[in-house]
Amino acid sequence: MSKISLQCRECKKEYESTFKYICDECFGPLDVKYDFSPVSKNAFDGREHTYWRYFELLPIQQKSNIVSIHAGMTPLIRAEKLGKELGLNNLYIKNDSVNPTFSFKDRPAGVAVSKAKEFGLSAVGCASTGNLASATAAHAAKGGFPCYVFAPSDIEHAKIAQALAYGSKFIAVDGTYDDANRIAAQIGDSKGIGIVNINMRSYYVEGSKTLAYEVAEQLGWQVPDQLIVPVGSGAMLNAICKGFEELQTVSLLNDVSRMRMIAAQPHGCAPVVDAFKRGDTEVIPVENPDTIAKSLAIGDPGDGRYVLKRLKQYNGYAEESNNKEILDAILLLAKTEGVFTEPAGGVSVAVLKKMVEDGKIDKNDTTVCYVTGNGLKATESIMEVLQKPQTMKADVAKISAVVQ
Ligand SMILES: Cc1ncc(COP(=O)(O)O)c(C=O)c1O
Ligand SMILES: [Zn+2]
Repeated sequence: MSKISLQCRECKKEYESTFKYICDECFGPLDVKYDFSPVSKNAFDGREHTYWRYFELLPIQQKSNIVSIHAGMTPLIRAEKLGKELGLNNLYIKNDSVNPTFSFKDRPAGVAVSKAKEFGLSAVGCASTGNLASATAAHAAKGGFPCYVFAPSDIEHAKIAQALAYGSKFIAVDGTYDDANRIAAQIGDSKGIGIVNINMRSYYVEGSKTLAYEVAEQLGWQVPDQLIVPVGSGAMLNAICKGFEELQTVSLLNDVSRMRMIAAQPHGCAPVVDAFKRGDTEVIPVENPDTIAKSLAIGDPGDGRYVLKRLKQYNGYAEESNNKEILDAILLLAKTEGVFTEPAGGVSVAVLKKMVEDGKIDKNDTTVCYVTGNGLKATESIMEVLQKPQTMKADVAKISAVVQ
């Protein structure tokens, strides 16, 4: 069991691990810091096929506090067909759309809800662009917590239905994600509710770093040459970097510094890409996001400036893709690899395609493209570009005439 503390990302002041997320001195975000000992490569052999296999690298002190719905250990697919289509020899898709609630959000939500249990909180909640709502609600249901979701009212129907089915109280805010986030922050603090991605954020982001652990383990404890990560708030990209760095700290990896991080955002809400291309260190918020990638529609990304730092640290790049490119990429991935993703995953694949076309990716590099949400959650935007099914009378002769 590692001893954990919290440390300010800015001024490095340390705190005990409590229900606290902002530095008293400089208002910087607090990160979980561990007192790690080296871990051997076979330490995880035979363990459960969920991200809780990395228990000693996660911020929960007692195993009895784990709230698990068996998320993680999702497939790392050797994408030969998509790679061939794009001209890449070593392409992998990390298919996180097959988690129990069908997005990567089961990772951060599960860790935060478990920590809420460890802290003895009486309720949890989240501000969500859609996927976090169901991930938090499902973990809350399993852990026996009331759950409050604050989300913009225009998100996809399937995401609302899912979060309601798990029993959450869903507040559909008539406004943007940033409006929902501000309200959730105030209510969480005034009522002592563990808002997983706000006042539990230090613990929440720890779940997402398992996206680095799993990829490294699935590659036989190797660091990929480059990683393409969809960015909303930027928490996931930052956490993936932290995850690889920690694997180096515990001697499971070396040479993490040579990996290359690529941030992918949708046109219509690409404040991090815009800042990167301006050569800026600060993000200018987008006031009214407009994209079919609703799960990435975060105009004022909380971790935006840290993503920019990570891109600098890891020889990175940032690129955007528009609605048409996103939809084309969804179909390309579906038709080559049999993986149906929502627009956020389409953004990653579209950015990958654009970078290959622009000569920015070496065809022999080991490239991992993160696909983080499931297409079944966003059929309304995807149906637009699909051919309508042909309705026919149940007549074998007539139907037979249109087959082949
Ligand atoms: C499917 C999907 N991918 C990526 C992201 C972006 O994650 P982050 O906000 O940590 O950058 C989100 C955020 O909601 C998401 O739902
Ligand atoms: Zn500080």
